[in-house]
Amino acid sequence: IKKIGVLTSGGDSPGMNAAIRSVVRTCSYHKIECVGIYRGYQGMIEGDFIEMGPRSVHNIINKGGTILKSARSKDFRTPEGRKKAYDELTKAGVDALVIIGGDGSFTGAEIFNREYGFPVMGIPGTIDNDIFGTSHTLGYDTALNTVVECIDKIRDTASSHNRLFFVEVMGRDAGHIALNAGIGAGAEEILIPEADLGLDRLVESLMKSKASGKSSSIVVIAEGDKIGKSVFELKDYFDLNLPEYDVRVSVLGHMQRGGSPSCFDRVLASRLGVKAVECLLAGKSNFMVGMLNDAVTLTPLLHAIKGHTEIDRELLRVSEIMSV
Ligand code: F6P
Repeated sequence: IKKIGVLTSGGDSPGMNAAIRSVVRTCSYHKIECVGIYRGYQGMIEGDFIEMGPRSVHNIINKGGTILKSARSKDFRTPEGRKKAYDELTKAGVDALVIIGGDGSFTGAEIFNREYGFPVMGIPGTIDNDIFGTSHTLGYDTALNTVVECIDKIRDTASSHNRLFFVEVMGRDAGHIALNAGIGAGAEEILIPEADLGLDRLVESLMKSKASGKSSSIVVIAEGDKIGKSVFELKDYFDLNLPEYDVRVSVLGHMQRGGSPSCFDRVLASRLGVKAVECLLAGKSNFMVGMLNDAVTLTPLLHAIKGHTEIDRELLRVSEIMSV
């Protein structure tokens, strides 16, 4: 391996820049070249490359987003698109890739590896923490802290006005952000797709809280929750059927994807970048680097894509006990 290409793909997440920096500097440390690929697979197809060295990644460890930009490429899903990408890489002398992204990005990498035997390594970058084979994805810890900070602020106003707040958080089909940030922010109830609380039990539990003397409540709802109502429909339901509650809705949205990465995400990114490059140099390919029990591990890309992450059921119990 003489020249490694690095790209970020899919939804951005805090820590992606720290991972790019790590990949670039590890290449330099081992005296091989590194090429940044702009806009994920789309930039690969279009040959949108930039030579990178240790100084081109200075002052980015603390920055959210991705200096290489990100995209979800439709063209790369076609054999023609992948052929163009392969031709561009060959023309630029790139002989291995590090892909920073989520399961969609890994699916593209896996297919590309199968079709062209091109060495690839994945680094899990998404706030959702929904990738099998790692306890943490890049950006998840930062997103949790962002959500907790927001809910702390919402709590101030909820309490001043004796209000019930429905706070919707991201996570796609997974409830990791909702469950952990919900506990961290002291939410009364947490609704996640992995454990359907049901509307009746939600109402029952909120009424119990009110009866026990709570004058305001915060319910954290994962965007993928299956209660069958959007946060706005939930508010309408309460307005109509339970007018004793003064309900407000807050959808935190994309602010959860931005901001300076936490120290945890920066260290994780640095460790995973080193491992990804050193694996390629050692002749390994088609793995995702991740972290389990504080050790850097390798998971075959196919397992990372197909495997399911489980939520920690004990956390549900903790949340229930805390909202007594
Ligand atoms: O996967 C990250 C994520 O932020 C999810 O939590 C969310 O469902 C989705 O991306 C939003 O995607 P977009 O950037 O297309 O709005």
